[in-house]
This record gives sequence, structure tokens and C-alpha cells, in this order.
Amino acid sequence: MNPYRLAWATDIHLNFVDGDAGPFCDLVTQTGAGGLVITGDISEAKTIEQDLAAIESRLFLPIYFVLGNHDFYNGSIAAVRKAVAGLCRRSRRLHYLPDEGIVPLSETTALVGHDGWADGRLGDYAGSTVELTDYTVIEEFIGLSAEARLPRLRALGDEAADHFRRHLPAAFERFHCVLLATHVPPFREACWHGGAIADDNYLPHFTCGAVGDALVEIMSDRPDRRLVVLCGHTHSPGTARILPNLVVRTGGAAYGQPCLVDVLDVGPSSAPEYPTLQPAAGTHKDGGGEEMTKGVSVAEEMDHELKGVAVILKNPDGKYLVMKNKPRPGKPVPFVTIPTGTVEMGEDPEATAIREVEEETGLTISGLQLVEKFNSVDPERYGRTPFTTYIYRANYAGSVRLREEEKHEWLGWMKCEEIRNLGGPFSFALERALLHM
Ligand SMILES: [Fe+2]
Ligand SMILES: [Fe+2]
Repeated sequence: MNPYRLAWATDIHLNFVDGDAGPFCDLVTQTGAGGLVITGDISEAKTIEQDLAAIESRLFLPIYFVLGNHDFYNGSIAAVRKAVAGLCRRSRRLHYLPDEGIVPLSETTALVGHDGWADGRLGDYAGSTVELTDYTVIEEFIGLSAEARLPRLRALGDEAADHFRRHLPAAFERFHCVLLATHVPPFREACWHGGAIADDNYLPHFTCGAVGDALVEIMSDRPDRRLVVLCGHTHSPGTARILPNLVVRTGGAAYGQPCLVDVLDVGPSSAPEYPTLQPAAGTHKDGGGEEMTKGVSVAEEMDHELKGVAVILKNPDGKYLVMKNKPRPGKPVPFVTIPTGTVEMGEDPEATAIREVEEETGLTISGLQLVEKFNSVDPERYGRTPFTTYIYRANYAGSVRLREEEKHEWLGWMKCEEIRNLGGPFSFALERALLHM
């Protein structure tokens, strides 16, 4: 089975690319990933909401994220967190991880996350000569001496550590592996700078010691569980194995060139191992990637795959066939979709596509071309098991008629812009198919 894949980016700093999230979103789409996680430094305080909304409008995927220090520049931590939480409540796809607790990704793997903060605990805070821009452009620190600032830094680190102490043990009761997203590296060994470990002068401002302590404590008690930390902040890539079951990946980044670090394969695995990590096109080179592969497992085929099909049909006027579902229990809001169906036991997806289009629309299709296979998780229907959808384009013959009146309210041909202007809600399949229309 095609396991669930999660694209990972960090420190994309969209404010340095004139807020144009388009090329970055295209990179994510090209990977075929079923979700995106961003480990902070997405934008700045005044633009973070519009940049997140821009990403959401281009990606029809769940978008998980934490915030980094830059996301609060020229604003306050409290106000930005509140605004972003509000945005996520109004959004279908944006997920601010500190508000999400445990996010199931597959049968074996969950995601948790918190911003974290460089908390002055590692290295030599008292002797450090580093004065970060943070301390002059984030409201909570403005005007404070280094001494007066330290309790605030520590409190922010403690808040992240408390979050992980609260959620990680519960996550490990249900999952073998957890991906942990945070902005600031939680260990000295993970604080890469220019290909080497940062020194005592920089460490207080680039590591979150409180989170590191919590993670060692939690993972020491659970040798049969695995934790993979994804972080950024230093813009210098590397991998550190802190314990046999605790690996930290620090993602590389460059200002003005938002990129993916990797695409993580988090599909169901028969063995309690690390998720497979596969380098993707358009990713930064990760200097420590080799170390990571020692703990990698290959996701195995499951006996019974959950598969579905969706079919894009275009008429000579350049319009696409869409239909509106009737409300049903659990889905009271009717959504717009394209012909779709579930692959039955022993059935070939192409045969399913032909059968479903005939059943739903009366059309006979031929010349099927596979456009994309994508993985999603639909907890309402299938719990945590990933669902693979095959999207086809096809030729058709015959005339359209509404054949399943109990399921569909109407069906007809619409231009791509007309469909988009409906504004949804769309089925997962149509959201994805829109990328190919
Ligand atoms: Fe950054
Ligand atoms: Fe940062």
C-alpha cells in the first residue's frame, strides 16, 4: 500500500518572498504528500495570518504547524498565538499543533507539536554576548535586560515541555512512533550551525533545554517506543541520535527560498520502528541523513488496502462534471464532488472507476489515465487507516443523467472557476482533483 506521506518544511519565512506562497505550495503538491507540517518561522506577526491563508488556498491538504520566533516579530507572542488559533478554528485545513494535542497520522504514527522557545538553559547564558533581534522586536522582551529576560525565556520553554509531558505519554499508549514538531532544537547535539554544533555563546539562544529534559525522561521509560523530533530555527541541517529511540532532525533553510526538508513516509508498519524518510525533489540536503537511515523501517503492504477512485470528466466546452451530494447522517452539509467510489475486494481501481461513473451518471468511460494517487485519513469513515484514492481522467460516451437520486441532489457541467467560486464544501476527491483541472 502507498503509505501516508507527510511533507516537512521549516523556516520558510514567506515575508522574504513577497508573501507569494505559490511556488512553495507547488513543491508540496508535486510530492503527492497527504499532509504538510511546518516547524515554525513561517512569516512575521503582521503577515502570518495572510500567509497561512495563502498556503491553505493553494493546498488541499491538512496543514500542521507550530510558530517560530520570527512569527512574532513586530508583534506579541500572546496576540499572534491568539490570532492564529482563531484562524485555525475558522479553517478546514489549518492546524496549529499546540491546540491539537495528538494527531493520528497512521496506524503506527502520531504527530504532536509545540512552538518551543530558546530558553537560556544550555550553554553560557550569563556570559553570552549574543543579542538576538527577538529581544528588540517581540513585545514581551522589549526593554528587558538579559537578566530580566531570562525568567520569560524559561517560562516559554517550560510551557512547551509541559505540553509534551501532557501529550506524549498518552500518544505512546496508542502509537509506536511519534513525530514531534517544534521550532527550536531541544538538545545541544541538535543545534547545528554552519555544519557544526553551536558553541556555548549561541546555545542559550538556539536550544530549548526544558523540552530536551522532558523528552529524555519520557523516552528513557519507553525503550519500545520511538520519537522523531522535527525542528528548525538554526537554518543548518543535521541529525542527532540522543537515545536509541530518540532522534532529532534539524531542517535546513535559506531566506527567500522556501523549500521542503523532506517527505516522511508514515504509513502503517508491521514493526515498531522509525518512519521511513525519503528525500524528495526540491529538498535541502540534510547532512545527517545517513545517521537516520540506521533506524528506518520499510512500511509493509497491508492485507486489506482501503482504496477509492475519483474521475475527472471534461466536456468539449471545457466544463467538468460535478455533483452535489444530499445531506446524510454525520455529514449534514451537502458537499460538491465528482464521480467517486470505493474499490471492492478483488476489484481493479480502473474497473471501479468505469462501474461507478456508469452507476452515478449513466456515462460509459474509456481511455482512463491515472492522474494521481493520494493518501488521506478519514476518521469518520475508516478510523486511522489511510485511504488511497486513484484520480483518473477519461473519455466518455452517452448523455449525463442523475441516476442515484437518493445520493445526489444534482449533477451537471461547470467550468473550473465556477466550481471554485462555489467555495465548497468539497469532497476530499474534488479538492484534490481541482489541482488537475
Ligand atoms: Fe528561521
Ligand atoms: Fe527561528
